[in-house]
Amino acid sequence: MSLFLNTTVLNAAAWGIGSGNMYQDILVVVLIVVMFALLATALIVNKAMRSILRITMPEVLKEEQVTKVKRKESRKASWNKLLGLRPISEEKDLIIDHEYDGISELDNPVPIWFNALFYSTMTFAVVYILIYHVFGWGMNQHQEYVQEMEKAEIAKQEYLAQAANLIDESSVLFDETKVAAGSAVFQANCVACHGGAGEGGIGPNLTDKFWLHGGEIKDIFKTVKYGVPDKGMVPWEQTLTPGQIAEVSSYIVSLRDTKPANPKEPQGTEVAYQAADAKAAATDSTKVQ
Ligand code: HEC
Repeated sequence: MSLFLNTTVLNAAAWGIGSGNMYQDILVVVLIVVMFALLATALIVNKAMRSILRITMPEVLKEEQVTKVKRKESRKASWNKLLGLRPISEEKDLIIDHEYDGISELDNPVPIWFNALFYSTMTFAVVYILIYHVFGWGMNQHQEYVQEMEKAEIAKQEYLAQAANLIDESSVLFDETKVAAGSAVFQANCVACHGGAGEGGIGPNLTDKFWLHGGEIKDIFKTVKYGVPDKGMVPWEQTLTPGQIAEVSSYIVSLRDTKPANPKEPQGTEVAYQAADAKAAATDSTKVQ
C-alpha cells in the first residue's frame, strides 16, 4: 500500500503539476499574473512614447526605419551564405558550359551547413573509435549487454530466493529437485538425532510408515518448522529458512520405505499415504489415477 502511495506521489512530481504546497502554488500563479500585467503596462507605455515621438521628432523614427532595413538585409545575406544560396544575379558565373536540349546546369558550391555536418560525422567517428574501441574508456554494446544480464541474474536470484521462502506448511509440495539440497540440510542439522539415513536414534525413524505427527509433506514441514519442544524435537523456524525446511521435508518424503540398517522401532500410528500422493503427482503427472 505504501509503495502504491509512493508511486502516485512520484507521478505527480514527474508530471510537474503543483509542488504539493497549495500556498506556494497560489503564489506562483499570482506572480505569473503580475508579470503579465507589468508586460502589458510596458507595451502600452512604449506605444504612447512612440506616438509622442512621431509628433515631436519624426526624423528619429525615419532613421530607425533605415537601420532596421539594413540589418534585415545583412541577416538575409549571412543566412544565404550558410545555406549556400547565391543571388540570382551571380547565376551567369555559375553556369557550366554544357547544355542538353536547352537545359544547362549550375555549379553551386556545397553549402556550409552540409560540409559542417559531413566533417562533424567524421570527427565523431574518430572520437568514437578512440573512446570505445582503442582506449576502452566507455562500454560498448556488448559489454553493456553483459553488464545488464549480470544485474538481471542477481535480481533473478534474489527473487527466486525470496519466492522459495514464501513457502509454508499449507503450500509446500514434494519436489524431486529439492531432495539433494534437503539431504545436505539433513546431514548438517538432523543426523545427530535421526541417524545418517533417517533410521532414527534419539528421534524417531523417518523412513517407516509410522508417524507421531503425520507423514505427509505438509505435516513434516509443520513438525520441522515448529518442532515438538517438550519431546526434544527442535523448532527449526529460527535456524532454517522456509526454503530450507521445504527442501529437508522433500528429502524426508524421499526416504519412504528405504529400509536403512539398524532401524528404530516404529513409533506413532501407521499412515496410509494419500493415494493422490504429492510424491507421485510431482514425479509422474501423466499417470491416470
Ligand atoms: C536434538 C535432537 C533432534 C534433532 C537435532 C532433530 N530432531 Fe527431529 N525429532 C526429535 C525427537 C525427539 C522427535 C520426536 C518428537 C516427539 O516425540 O513428538 C523428533 C521428531 C521429528 C519428526 C516427526 C516424526 C514423527 O514421527 O512424526 C520429524 C519429521 C523430524 N523430527 C525432522 C527433523 C529434521 C528435518 C531435523 C533437522 C532439521 C530434526 N528433526 C532434528 C529430535 C531431534
